[in-house]
Amino acid sequence: MEQRRGDLIIRLANGISLRRLYFDSHPRVVAASVEIAADLAAVLGDGTRESFDIGVYGGKFVHEGCYLVGPSIAGRALIDFAERLGCGGFVFGASVTSADLIAFFRLGAEKSETLAGLAEARAVFARHGLAHIGLSAPFSEEGTDPLQSDAAPGGNDRVAADFAPLVEIYQSMYASVSANALAIGTGAALDCGATRAAAANLAGLAADDALDVMQFLRYPDFDSYTIGHSVRVAALSSVLGRALGWPAQILAELATAGLLHDLGKSRIPPEILFKPGRLDEDERRVMDSHVELGARVLLDGGERSALVLSAAWGHHRRHDGGGYPAMPGWYRVGVVAELMHVCDVFEALTARRPYKPALSARHAYEIMLEDADSYHPRLLASLIETLGIYPPGSEVQLSDRRRAVVVGRGQDLDRPRVRLTHAPFGAPLPADERQVLDLAVEDSLCIAGLIPTDADAVR
Ligand SMILES: [Fe+2]
Ligand SMILES: [Fe+2]
Repeated sequence: MEQRRGDLIIRLANGISLRRLYFDSHPRVVAASVEIAADLAAVLGDGTRESFDIGVYGGKFVHEGCYLVGPSIAGRALIDFAERLGCGGFVFGASVTSADLIAFFRLGAEKSETLAGLAEARAVFARHGLAHIGLSAPFSEEGTDPLQSDAAPGGNDRVAADFAPLVEIYQSMYASVSANALAIGTGAALDCGATRAAAANLAGLAADDALDVMQFLRYPDFDSYTIGHSVRVAALSSVLGRALGWPAQILAELATAGLLHDLGKSRIPPEILFKPGRLDEDERRVMDSHVELGARVLLDGGERSALVLSAAWGHHRRHDGGGYPAMPGWYRVGVVAELMHVCDVFEALTARRPYKPALSARHAYEIMLEDADSYHPRLLASLIETLGIYPPGSEVQLSDRRRAVVVGRGQDLDRPRVRLTHAPFGAPLPADERQVLDLAVEDSLCIAGLIPTDADAVR
């Protein structure tokens, strides 16, 4: 349910972003509203709850005493809407229709002023016929603290307060990629300054912090995956750059380059960009042109950093001279574009996307090593060495047959910190028994193996 809850929240936020780009009856707005209405009906259909509630507090989503890390990063548009309304969240009833959702997206997209209070917000909702979507009172009004629990968000071992500043940094990265994509779609000016500011904050994070948050970043639908992908590539590239000993100023540029590397995709027609099946040759050529389009859009937008431009233009060039854009055999792209290429492929393999499950890091390394000529050998080796085979989020089997999820790197890459999830013969542990263990100090325990993801299992 947690994953489903998070996905629904992100898709509701994306509905608002989509409505900013299009109009009520646009097929993509309509399709989003129909899918979300069906999902809400499915979630509420078992009769265990009467409504789907989303709490908003302190610029983040909260549920049962915890911040929801992933949805708070990718669902900022919905948080902003709640803040403008002055409410503590939304309550979606079982009879919400796609028409209700379209009206909700329209209000979220168009209502830019902050309302005087909850009463006014409820009156606005009533005026727009939103009878099945309620607004909850702000937590401060109710006198309750929504973060009273020390339980960890999304299965991580860190308390909510620990994550708050990290979430804000990721929110600003997500917002800047999404704002630039919107700017291209609507003909407005790019704001690379905001992207640089967000990237500088990321580059200032310790590697463990950047990776710990990365595992929560989800993108459940077509509209959010280029944005989520860019944020994760930015995080990976700055972690890898740091491991290579590159200076702080370069790390910030690298993170900027990661955030902007696929900007050209905003110029690809949606019917090709979001086509669920295989692209034909002509469509593939159009899709591949996102690298030149990206570099052009950045140049036209005033971007002058050679590092950022070369990453946008060259991140699909292979180390052996292949890839695209096509160039003479002697031509080599710079090391930054090669680093972006390594991070780009690793991110795509390990991400769960609407059309494919996530691969484990180990499986992704195997695939990349089978095509090793594509990558700068030192950069690929550094990626594997830096992330290890158990990056945060990996599910593992322990030597005593219990199962756990990796929640952070330890001093030794083979002995990370883990949170127990299952008893020895597969029964899930109740929440209060999901203890965090640091395998670096648990001498009698070690990792016996990775639990294959669905995708690994079918291999
Ligand atoms: Fe790309
Ligand atoms: Fe990419």
